[in-house]
Amino acid sequence: MSPLAFLHTALRHFQTTGSVAPSSRYLCRHIVASAQLTPDSRVLEVGPGNGVITRHYLPHLSDPAQATLVEINPVFCGILRRDPALRGAHVIGAGVETLPADSLEPAADVIISSVPFYSLPPSVREDISQQYARLLRPGQLWVQYTYSPNPGFFRRQPGFHLVSSHLVLRNVPPARVLVLRRT
Ligand SMILES: C[S@@+](CC[C@H](N)C(=O)[O-])C[C@H]1O[C@@H](n2cnc3c(N)ncnc32)[C@H](O)[C@@H]1O
Repeated sequence: MSPLAFLHTALRHFQTTGSVAPSSRYLCRHIVASAQLTPDSRVLEVGPGNGVITRHYLPHLSDPAQATLVEINPVFCGILRRDPALRGAHVIGAGVETLPADSLEPAADVIISSVPFYSLPPSVREDISQQYARLLRPGQLWVQYTYSPNPGFFRRQPGFHLVSSHLVLRNVPPARVLVLRRT
Protein backbone atom coordinates (compact mmCIF):
# COMPACT_ATOMS: atom_id res chain seq x y z
CA MET A 1 0.00 0.00 0.00
CA SER A 2 1.49 3.34 -1.04
CA PRO A 3 1.82 6.17 1.51
CA LEU A 4 -0.81 8.06 -0.50
CA ALA A 5 -3.28 5.16 -0.33
CA PHE A 6 -2.67 4.91 3.45
CA LEU A 7 -3.34 8.65 3.79
CA HIS A 8 -6.55 8.30 1.77
CA THR A 9 -7.84 5.46 3.99
CA ALA A 10 -6.70 7.26 7.14
CA LEU A 11 -8.54 10.46 6.25
CA ARG A 12 -11.75 8.54 5.54
CA HIS A 13 -11.55 6.75 8.91
CA PHE A 14 -9.60 9.24 11.01
CA GLN A 15 -11.07 8.39 14.42
CA THR A 16 -10.05 4.73 14.24
CA THR A 17 -6.81 5.20 12.27
CA GLY A 18 -5.44 8.07 14.33
CA SER A 19 -2.46 8.70 12.04
CA VAL A 20 -1.69 9.80 8.50
CA ALA A 21 1.29 7.57 7.76
CA PRO A 22 2.40 4.04 8.64
CA SER A 23 4.94 3.62 11.45
CA SER A 24 8.59 4.23 10.50
CA ARG A 25 11.04 1.33 10.50
CA TYR A 26 12.66 2.83 13.63
CA LEU A 27 9.36 2.72 15.48
CA CYS A 28 8.60 -0.80 14.21
CA ARG A 29 12.01 -2.05 15.37
CA HIS A 30 11.57 -0.54 18.82
CA ILE A 31 8.10 -2.06 19.18
CA VAL A 32 9.33 -5.51 18.13
CA ALA A 33 12.36 -5.37 20.46
CA SER A 34 10.06 -4.33 23.34
CA ALA A 35 7.83 -7.36 22.76
CA GLN A 36 10.68 -9.73 23.77
CA LEU A 37 9.60 -12.36 21.25
CA THR A 38 10.93 -15.91 21.11
CA PRO A 39 10.39 -18.31 18.17
CA ASP A 40 7.47 -19.88 20.12
CA SER A 41 5.69 -16.62 20.95
CA ARG A 42 2.04 -16.30 20.01
CA VAL A 43 1.31 -12.68 19.10
CA LEU A 44 -1.99 -10.87 19.09
CA GLU A 45 -1.55 -7.72 17.02
CA VAL A 46 -4.36 -5.20 17.26
CA GLY A 47 -4.66 -2.48 14.62
CA PRO A 48 -2.05 -3.83 12.18
CA GLY A 49 -3.18 -1.39 9.47
CA ASN A 50 -1.23 -2.28 6.33
CA GLY A 51 0.99 -4.77 8.24
CA VAL A 52 4.05 -2.57 8.58
CA ILE A 53 4.86 -3.81 12.12
CA THR A 54 3.76 -7.36 11.28
CA ARG A 55 6.40 -7.62 8.55
CA HIS A 56 9.06 -6.75 11.14
CA TYR A 57 8.17 -9.43 13.71
CA LEU A 58 6.84 -12.31 11.59
CA PRO A 59 10.39 -13.53 10.72
CA HIS A 60 11.06 -13.88 14.49
CA LEU A 61 8.30 -16.53 14.83
CA SER A 62 8.67 -20.22 13.95
CA ASP A 63 5.36 -20.16 12.10
CA PRO A 64 3.32 -17.17 10.83
CA ALA A 65 0.21 -18.95 12.16
CA GLN A 66 1.40 -17.88 15.64
CA ALA A 67 0.27 -14.35 14.74
CA THR A 68 -3.35 -13.21 14.97
CA LEU A 69 -4.14 -9.80 13.49
CA VAL A 70 -7.33 -8.04 14.58
CA GLU A 71 -8.16 -5.06 12.37
CA ILE A 72 -11.39 -3.04 12.40
CA ASN A 73 -10.98 -1.42 8.95
CA PRO A 74 -12.08 -3.70 6.07
CA VAL A 75 -9.78 -1.89 3.60
CA PHE A 76 -6.75 -2.77 5.73
CA CYS A 77 -8.07 -6.34 6.24
CA GLY A 78 -8.11 -6.86 2.47
CA ILE A 79 -4.51 -5.63 2.20
CA LEU A 80 -3.36 -7.90 5.03
CA ARG A 81 -5.06 -10.96 3.48
CA ARG A 82 -3.53 -10.32 0.04
CA ASP A 83 0.04 -9.58 1.18
CA PRO A 84 2.26 -12.60 0.38
CA ALA A 85 4.69 -11.52 3.13
CA LEU A 86 1.93 -12.10 5.71
CA ARG A 87 0.68 -15.43 4.38
CA GLY A 88 -0.25 -17.82 7.20
CA ALA A 89 -1.08 -15.14 9.77
CA HIS A 90 -4.73 -15.14 10.91
CA VAL A 91 -6.63 -11.97 10.06
CA ILE A 92 -9.82 -11.16 11.99
CA GLY A 93 -11.89 -8.23 10.78
CA ALA A 94 -13.45 -6.74 13.92
CA GLY A 95 -13.04 -4.25 16.71
CA VAL A 96 -10.99 -6.17 19.27
CA GLU A 97 -13.30 -5.10 22.10
CA THR A 98 -16.28 -6.82 20.42
CA LEU A 99 -14.72 -10.29 20.23
CA PRO A 100 -15.52 -12.98 22.80
CA ALA A 101 -12.19 -13.62 24.56
CA ASP A 102 -12.38 -17.36 23.79
CA SER A 103 -12.61 -16.64 20.05
CA LEU A 104 -8.95 -15.62 20.27
CA GLU A 105 -7.72 -19.09 21.34
CA PRO A 106 -4.98 -20.20 21.48
CA ALA A 107 -4.17 -17.47 23.91
CA ALA A 108 -1.53 -14.90 23.02
CA ASP A 109 1.73 -14.46 24.94
CA VAL A 110 2.00 -10.80 24.00
CA ILE A 111 -0.23 -8.06 22.59
CA ILE A 112 1.21 -5.54 20.14
CA SER A 113 -1.33 -2.75 19.86
CA SER A 114 -1.43 0.28 17.57
CA VAL A 115 -5.00 1.21 18.50
CA PRO A 116 -5.19 5.04 18.72
CA PHE A 117 -6.61 5.16 22.27
CA TYR A 118 -6.63 8.95 22.46
CA SER A 119 -8.83 9.31 19.34
CA LEU A 120 -11.44 6.87 20.64
CA PRO A 121 -14.40 7.54 22.94
CA PRO A 122 -13.49 6.89 26.61
CA SER A 123 -15.90 3.94 26.87
CA VAL A 124 -14.23 2.20 23.90
CA ARG A 125 -10.78 2.81 25.41
CA GLU A 126 -11.89 1.17 28.65
CA ASP A 127 -13.45 -1.77 26.78
CA ILE A 128 -10.23 -2.41 24.84
CA SER A 129 -8.01 -2.20 27.94
CA GLN A 130 -10.35 -4.59 29.81
CA GLN A 131 -10.26 -6.98 26.84
CA TYR A 132 -6.43 -6.96 26.93
CA ALA A 133 -6.55 -7.71 30.67
CA ARG A 134 -8.83 -10.70 29.99
CA LEU A 135 -6.57 -12.00 27.20
CA LEU A 136 -3.19 -11.84 28.97
CA ARG A 137 -1.94 -13.86 31.92
CA PRO A 138 0.16 -12.42 34.78
CA GLY A 139 3.63 -11.42 33.63
CA GLN A 140 2.73 -11.09 29.95
CA LEU A 141 3.27 -7.87 28.00
CA TRP A 142 1.08 -5.35 26.21
CA VAL A 143 3.23 -3.20 23.89
CA GLN A 144 1.48 -0.02 22.79
CA TYR A 145 2.53 3.12 21.01
CA THR A 146 0.94 6.52 21.16
CA TYR A 147 1.47 10.02 19.79
CA SER A 148 0.06 11.59 22.93
CA PRO A 149 2.62 13.74 24.79
CA ASN A 150 0.92 12.87 28.08
CA PRO A 151 -0.11 9.21 27.99
CA GLY A 152 -1.48 9.14 31.55
CA PHE A 153 -4.26 6.72 30.57
CA PHE A 154 -1.72 3.90 30.34
CA ARG A 155 -0.38 4.52 33.87
CA ARG A 156 -3.69 3.67 35.51
CA GLN A 157 -5.04 0.63 33.72
CA PRO A 158 -6.51 -1.97 36.09
CA GLY A 159 -4.58 -5.23 35.82
CA PHE A 160 -1.46 -3.63 34.33
CA HIS A 161 1.75 -2.05 35.53
CA LEU A 162 3.63 0.35 33.22
CA VAL A 163 7.20 -0.95 32.99
CA SER A 164 8.74 1.32 30.37
CA SER A 165 8.08 4.37 28.22
CA HIS A 166 10.42 5.37 25.40
CA LEU A 167 10.12 8.19 22.88
CA VAL A 168 11.05 7.26 19.29
CA LEU A 169 11.94 10.51 17.54
CA ARG A 170 12.45 9.05 14.09
CA ASN A 171 8.77 8.73 13.28
CA VAL A 172 6.21 11.24 11.96
CA PRO A 173 5.10 12.36 14.46
CA PRO A 174 7.47 11.12 17.22
CA ALA A 175 5.82 8.26 19.07
CA ARG A 176 6.06 6.88 22.59
CA VAL A 177 6.35 3.11 23.02
CA LEU A 178 4.82 1.91 26.27
CA VAL A 179 5.29 -1.54 27.75
CA LEU A 180 2.69 -2.69 30.27
CA ARG A 181 2.94 -5.94 32.23
CA ARG A 182 -0.15 -7.89 33.32
CA THR A 183 -0.20 -8.05 37.11
C1 LIG B 1 -2.32 4.29 14.00
S1 LIG B 1 -3.00 3.05 12.91
C2 LIG B 1 -1.65 1.89 12.97
C3 LIG B 1 -1.40 1.10 11.74
C4 LIG B 1 -0.08 0.31 11.75
N1 LIG B 1 -0.05 -0.67 12.81
C5 LIG B 1 1.10 1.23 11.89
O1 LIG B 1 1.76 1.19 12.94
O2 LIG B 1 1.36 2.00 10.96
C6 LIG B 1 -4.23 2.31 14.00
C7 LIG B 1 -4.90 1.05 13.48
O3 LIG B 1 -5.79 0.55 14.49
C8 LIG B 1 -6.99 0.10 13.84
N2 LIG B 1 -8.05 0.06 14.88
C9 LIG B 1 -8.62 1.13 15.48
N3 LIG B 1 -9.51 0.72 16.40
C10 LIG B 1 -9.47 -0.64 16.40
C11 LIG B 1 -10.17 -1.64 17.15
N4 LIG B 1 -11.07 -1.30 18.08
N5 LIG B 1 -9.91 -2.95 16.89
C12 LIG B 1 -8.99 -3.29 15.93
N6 LIG B 1 -8.32 -2.38 15.19
C13 LIG B 1 -8.54 -1.07 15.42
C14 LIG B 1 -7.17 1.10 12.73
O4 LIG B 1 -8.06 0.68 11.72
C15 LIG B 1 -5.72 1.26 12.24
O5 LIG B 1 -5.39 0.27 11.31
